[in-house]
Amino acid sequence: MGRHRIGVVIAVVFAVLSCVSRPAAAETGADGWLRYAPLSSTARAQYASFPATVVMLGDSPVLRTSRDELVRGIAGMLGVRLASTAAVGAGDAIVIGRADQVRRAVAGAAVPADLRADGFWVGTTSVSGRRLILVAGQADRGVLYGTFTLLRRIALGDPLASLDERQEPAAPIRWVNEWNNLDGTIERGYAGPSIFFENNNVRADLTRVSEYGRLLASIGINGCDVSNVNANTRVIMPEFVPQLVRLAAAFRPWGVRLSVSIDFSSPQKIGGLDTFDPLDPRVAAFWKTTVDRIYAQIPDFGGFVLKADSEGRLGPSAYKRTHADAANVIARALAPHGGVLFYRGFVYDNRMDWRNLKNDRARAAVDNFKTLDGSFDANVILQIKNGPIDFQVREPASPLFGTLQKTNQVIELQITQEYLGQQRHIVYLPPMWKEVLDFDMQVQPKGMQTLVRDLVTGKAFSRPLGGFVGVSNVGLDRNWLGHHLAMSNLYGFGRLAWNPGLSSERIADEWTRMTFGDDPRVLKAVAGILLESWPAYENYSGSLGIGTLTDIIGVHFGPGVESSERNGWGQWHRSDGMGVGMDRTVATGTGFIGQYSPDVARVFESLATCPEELLLFMHHVPYTHRLRSGKTVIQHIYDQHYLGAEQAAGFVSRWKTLEGLVDRERYLEVLDRLEFQAGHAVVWRDAVNTWFQRTSGIQDEKGLVGREAGRVEAESLSLTGFTIVDVTPWETASGGKAVVCDSTSGCAATFEYRDSPGARDIVVQYYDQSDGASRYRLLVAGREVDRWRADRNLPHVESNGHTATRRTAHGVSLKTGNLIRLEATPDGREPAPVDYVEVK
Ligand code: GCU
Repeated sequence: MGRHRIGVVIAVVFAVLSCVSRPAAAETGADGWLRYAPLSSTARAQYASFPATVVMLGDSPVLRTSRDELVRGIAGMLGVRLASTAAVGAGDAIVIGRADQVRRAVAGAAVPADLRADGFWVGTTSVSGRRLILVAGQADRGVLYGTFTLLRRIALGDPLASLDERQEPAAPIRWVNEWNNLDGTIERGYAGPSIFFENNNVRADLTRVSEYGRLLASIGINGCDVSNVNANTRVIMPEFVPQLVRLAAAFRPWGVRLSVSIDFSSPQKIGGLDTFDPLDPRVAAFWKTTVDRIYAQIPDFGGFVLKADSEGRLGPSAYKRTHADAANVIARALAPHGGVLFYRGFVYDNRMDWRNLKNDRARAAVDNFKTLDGSFDANVILQIKNGPIDFQVREPASPLFGTLQKTNQVIELQITQEYLGQQRHIVYLPPMWKEVLDFDMQVQPKGMQTLVRDLVTGKAFSRPLGGFVGVSNVGLDRNWLGHHLAMSNLYGFGRLAWNPGLSSERIADEWTRMTFGDDPRVLKAVAGILLESWPAYENYSGSLGIGTLTDIIGVHFGPGVESSERNGWGQWHRSDGMGVGMDRTVATGTGFIGQYSPDVARVFESLATCPEELLLFMHHVPYTHRLRSGKTVIQHIYDQHYLGAEQAAGFVSRWKTLEGLVDRERYLEVLDRLEFQAGHAVVWRDAVNTWFQRTSGIQDEKGLVGREAGRVEAESLSLTGFTIVDVTPWETASGGKAVVCDSTSGCAATFEYRDSPGARDIVVQYYDQSDGASRYRLLVAGREVDRWRADRNLPHVESNGHTATRRTAHGVSLKTGNLIRLEATPDGREPAPVDYVEVK
């Protein structure tokens, strides 16, 4: 290579490096909230005398990670490159280390002597004129958490002068579960394939696992179960354990313990036994050998998660044994190593007779576990979903939390938005989680609160183990969850697991500052969107606690009002011609309400006191039942769906005010998702409202349902090549019908614009199936005004509520008499389906 070329290469490398160091350049979302973007000059001014040295007392992988993170963060935010030493010297410094070491190294430092596990203290002190910032952890992991806290404070622009902060987590268990399959797919994952597995093995490159460990550590998460609860037996087979060793190694520097999900029938399926009876000594021996083998290679292994007797998974019922028998046999193998067994409380019969009005899936958890309280070993933890059904948009707190007093428990929250829009909709979840965490179960003597958060942290009944599990399901997509804004849920989960007392507003504010910067316009718009998003989703997808109106036996995404009815899965809302809702009262219904303490049950049992957001969860009422507002239930349903769709449209306009204030990549990617959401909210609104209007026979008193202004059904246009088809379920197409094109050379639909001239939005509602990418062109008077491909890969191969979507051409200038023409070309098995066109 000649001199000149070397020079060019160096210049190029330099140019590339200087781009990399400027975070504003290409924001992929890969760093989540840990971007360490340079602080504004005003914010930076208060850190002007920031020390230039970090002293790391002692040495360990976690301590090194802490130091390196500090160096990285300070370089990014303050532009200061910290020098690293092992002993306190003559100048100002940041000192990090375990509490005992910091106390020894810095005489007189106010380091607390009694920090609890994972706790830390961050403070400042002056020694002979030297200014020291101290990060002291109870153990190494506490140092890491303290370091991230210090960095967060700087990122948020907090003054450090009088820093004196002691923090301890609310509970020892703060884990995430990843429902990853060994083939690399993720059950209910919406952001690409697994970061852990591919082709039935652990991935060769685990960079993303370590990056994920970093995000988790920054919010205090200390464990991760990497494999699907619908477990694959291979994950604990002897030949697979060395692969787990690699995963554990990727997480270890971040203080995250590895765990996996197990299949209860493993002793038979892979252990060569003819049984998996938990009381058979050979079965106990199988579990012991299996567990001993794992710990021999992964001494800090966390334990197992077990889903048994649920949704087709085998369990102790095969031998008429109890859940306690099942849990204890495995827990006893784990106990000598300090491992824990998470036993899932999500046990129910999915073949229930729907005709029997007394049947109720919501009762299952308490019915199954009530009598077992006190029979679980000390290292068993019952893992209980927040509500009694399954991560619906609105559920009461599971009564099981208040039922168990002698059993360890954790709350299972879902970060991945399975039933809540699958990250194609933004639904900020901390407000929903907090409603459950702050619910008072009233199971202690009068006058004493028993908040769910005190039950799950173990505080209420002095249980040693407890806490929080979040089903996160991140994927290989650069931004982890598919939607940049959805990362607020991962962040929020960790923050609440650490301190459930934090407010949703504060969490949203912290996350936004770190993710998008501190411009007040950005903070206001993003907080506004986040905090309104759960109510909005609830408004357009099903209000009053009705449960889910989605396709429950399929992908759980778009509307399909009746799909939960007349099957054994028990997610019924029991809507018929006369009324709606599940009667769960003790007096006339399933008796579910009686599973709560008498004081709570009394409130739910009476129509007069039942919180209206849970009305249809607890009661079956006629459509004409009047709410406290004076409105009938049916009118409330109509109105809320219009309101929700308006709120979703408002997210788009609010986000648009941030153009130029947020980096281009993330601005456009978020805008695209919000525009999709606004369109899909209309799909939801119209499907639910038309279904209820037809079923109840009661018209919307505002006259909106079924009469959208400016809407022209595709089937009524002048069609060339298109044929008219019925859509199933009928409510997911306007008028129940759509048009499809079977000709590879394309089809067209035209109509004449007869309204007054002006700039108008032209909306096309079509179906974007996953089995093709049809092309569309919109023309006005022969001139193309829009063109697009249906390549969103929405989660279905048919035209229905999952695939219905909208495209809007904004501000098209129209003259009376203009011919509007939509051309469509099918692709693959997708026949370029169109539902309607709307001019607004
Ligand atoms: C839901 C979800 C399943 C999952 C199950 C569970 O039902 O749809 O995919 O396996 O929960 O939590 O076990």
